[in-house]
Amino acid sequence: MSIKKGFPIFQTHPGLIYLDSTATSQKPSHVIDGVAEYLSSSYANIHRGSYDISEQSEKLYVESKEIVAKNIGAENWREIIYTANSTYALNLLAQSIWRTWILKKWDKVLVSIVEHHANVVPWLILKEDYGIEVEYIEINDDYTLDMDDLSQRLDDKVKIVSLAHVSNTTGQIFDLEKVNKLLDEKYSPHPTPLPEGEGKTAVSHLISGETDWRQWQKRPLFIVDGSQSVPHFAVDVKKIGCDAMFFTGHKVFADSGIGVLWAKEELLNELKPIFSGWGAIGRVEQESFTHSTTLPDKFEPGTPNLSGAVSLLKAFEYIESIGGYEKLEKIEQELVDYTLEKLENTPDIQLIGGKDKNTRVGVFTFYVPAVHSFDISDYLADNNICVRAGQHCAEPFMEHEGQHHTCRMSLHIYNTTEDIDKFFEVLSNAINDLR
Ligand SMILES: Cc1ncc(COP(=O)(O)O)c(C=O)c1O
Repeated sequence: MSIKKGFPIFQTHPGLIYLDSTATSQKPSHVIDGVAEYLSSSYANIHRGSYDISEQSEKLYVESKEIVAKNIGAENWREIIYTANSTYALNLLAQSIWRTWILKKWDKVLVSIVEHHANVVPWLILKEDYGIEVEYIEINDDYTLDMDDLSQRLDDKVKIVSLAHVSNTTGQIFDLEKVNKLLDEKYSPHPTPLPEGEGKTAVSHLISGETDWRQWQKRPLFIVDGSQSVPHFAVDVKKIGCDAMFFTGHKVFADSGIGVLWAKEELLNELKPIFSGWGAIGRVEQESFTHSTTLPDKFEPGTPNLSGAVSLLKAFEYIESIGGYEKLEKIEQELVDYTLEKLENTPDIQLIGGKDKNTRVGVFTFYVPAVHSFDISDYLADNNICVRAGQHCAEPFMEHEGQHHTCRMSLHIYNTTEDIDKFFEVLSNAINDLR
């Protein structure tokens, strides 16, 4: 069976050409049916019932985290925190980092110039409220990360380096292992002897006031926005060497309203969560309460998005069922090759992104001089073709490029070469008719 047949939206709308998967992915039957089955057979709240369906529900919730942990190379499922989406995940992490005093006034956060707003605004909030600094790392002409610029910016004030794995505008994959290596080279992990005390981590020393942890743990925290990598290729947080990573379920075949924050267990243990409430607390008295110390509960107050968690479980089961990430990458790579070839033959289109098929995914942001991107996207929409027009939640980057109106066509495994042919045919017509 073709991959497309497994996505009911294409039966509901025959002829639909969906090229907006960077915004959100379509859902396979396995996810849709899996969630329906859960809601009709074992839905109940978790953590609090000793009856069968509550236990089944809890089991699925944990299985969901297990499959996520397995697919991103996490140590165990307790390192997986569920949030509403990527945006909430980084807001939660950034505010919790501030609450734990890992950052202080004048400290710096480095992000790249291509970041989605989700990896900019949470840091700008800390800048506005507490006076931290946010700096932007440049990119090279081929849209790769400018490692020299990064290297020059890495000083003792830098406490966080937070980077997209893949840009949602250029489709470029950043070489994060190289970034990790540079961080290792620049920051000796223990410049002064470790204080006494097995198992004590940097932040607990700060909290207990025993020492300034910066004196002996100088390396900045390395955070990765995996929102556009996890949907497209196998991501391994251990291989990257990052401290935390987040992504959003709806771009990887799951439902909207479920996001993932992963961080190393020792970091999660140290962080003081910004939110709390039922499920995330120990004891509550009239004047005070205690936080839960159990992971992941400590970061998940209230009833979680249970069906969202099941949808994520089903989404990763689906990926495994088609032959895993290996197969997914192969399908997408063929589509990327095909699109790049077509682009070569369409001189009217100015691509904002690299042309190296080995270091990009199927996200193509472009503009046509003299034709407004909204006119192009409307023309395409009238022909049953879905793309995105605008600034793609990356306004600092669009400003940097001097292009405020662009179109973005993006691919996923349910697309075909026929979809791409049709897109280029209608786009040529649009250019001819609208210019
Ligand atoms: C790279 C990147 N980061 C973060 C996000 C935000 O995802 P969400 O809207 O699900 O929070 C997106 C969504 O487009 C994205 O592409």
